Amino acid sequence: MPVVVVVGGQWGDEGKGRIIDLLARKARVVARYSAGNNAGHTIVNELGEFKLHLVPAGIFYPEKTCVIGNGVAVDPEVLLGEISQLESRGINTSKLAVSARAQVVMPWHRLIDRLEEERLGAEAIGTTGKGIGPCFTDKVARRGIRIIDLLEPEDLLSRMRSVLDYQNRVITGVYGGEPIDFDACFEEYTEFGRRLQPFVADTQAIVTDALQAGEYVLLEGAQGSLLDLDHGTYEYVTSSVPSSTAGGATLGIGIGPTNVQRAVGVFKSYCTRVGNGPFPTELFGEISDQLRDHGKEFGRGEYGTTTGRPRRIGWLDTVAARYSVRFNGLSALALTRLDVLDGLPALKLCTAYEIDGEIVKTMPASASALRKVKPVYEELPGWDAPTSGVRNFDDLPAEAQVYIRRVESLLGVPVDLISVGPEREQAIIVNPIF
Ligand code: GDP
Ligand code: IMO
Ligand code: MG
Repeated sequence: MPVVVVVGGQWGDEGKGRIIDLLARKARVVARYSAGNNAGHTIVNELGEFKLHLVPAGIFYPEKTCVIGNGVAVDPEVLLGEISQLESRGINTSKLAVSARAQVVMPWHRLIDRLEEERLGAEAIGTTGKGIGPCFTDKVARRGIRIIDLLEPEDLLSRMRSVLDYQNRVITGVYGGEPIDFDACFEEYTEFGRRLQPFVADTQAIVTDALQAGEYVLLEGAQGSLLDLDHGTYEYVTSSVPSSTAGGATLGIGIGPTNVQRAVGVFKSYCTRVGNGPFPTELFGEISDQLRDHGKEFGRGEYGTTTGRPRRIGWLDTVAARYSVRFNGLSALALTRLDVLDGLPALKLCTAYEIDGEIVKTMPASASALRKVKPVYEELPGWDAPTSGVRNFDDLPAEAQVYIRRVESLLGVPVDLISVGPEREQAIIVNPIF
């Protein structure tokens, strides 16, 4: 009953959606376990190019069940929009199941997300503005609205009155904003509940049944491990509870940790970050512009899938990556966007940090220490030959092979999969993950 967890190893946008779309072939169930529509996963396959925010990337296989687990924050309007968009493009969504226990992103969450970012000013987190932080805050504070509540309007009525009374006090009192109208909101969300009802299911039972039948289950991570509340670059992190790390996966689905056989970390062949916060290997200038704009003419540059913001670019940071390997317990790596490095004369790998003259090989907890980091680099030769058509490791340019082997040895984990393009088949399977 193998369960494989796929997590982002860096600051998000590593290509998780693309890897899930490839690996889903062998799975019976693909389940999202955390975050919300702050995530944006791009998938390119024979059916076209898709950007998913909530629906798991297994949806392109009609026979697979796709689960949105209890750990996900669901914006019903976004989910319903995504379902109808997929349907309009001929993708069957009838096997999508949404947990009755998932939290709902409400209008006050989006509003407070924006108002709080404005209040923070220069110290803003640079959130996606989708209300995800306030939604998880309310989950923990026991003020959340869950999917099941939308299906039980009588109970929702009293619950929402109490919750909205609190939220309006915050909106007007703390931020000087305009209160949200109860009646319009209640009507809108009970209607969302009616439309979502056919998808609501006991998702924990779906996953458990698949495991008992000996089927493969793929747990789809969102965001990146370095955005995790506990292990990430706090306070420039996301607020998902459970966390988007491998440790959060079973909590967000409702299965025990002993079910998980493998945790696969998706890493870009370099680094990106969108939003604010420390980024030790960040690059400015020609190389970062070149990497960001690779494929831009086809809408495939390094610009946020959810917000369109330009992504910050840096060399591969193996100090941060090693840390991520360790706290996720990764058993394999999937290295993406190798082709984007084609043509660079030389590549750099950050192997240590220099902080106040001291060499450090682990990720400091202190944000101010992280800001002072001078990366210690190892330089490797680049390669000229294009890699996007390569399907066997041995056919990669020798310098690309050296680069990958060096990453493996610095991280202590094998690279089992190499992605050399955004399309499903543009991959080198070094060792089968399932
Ligand atoms: P996710 O959030 O981790 O699923 O990643 P995103 O979809 O936000 O960003 C990854 C981007 O890289 C998308 O535009 C993908 O289509 C693209 N991509 C993924 N793997 C590769 C690859 O190996 N090569 C290239 N050129 N693009 C890739
Ligand atoms: P995928 O799944 C990249 C970042 C935001 C911001 C911080 C907090 O596509 O990899 P939030 O809106 O979550 O409160 O913002 O987290 N962030 C992501 N960055 N990819 C994501 O998801 C992200 N989800 C959140 O940019 O810095
Ligand atoms: Mg993304």
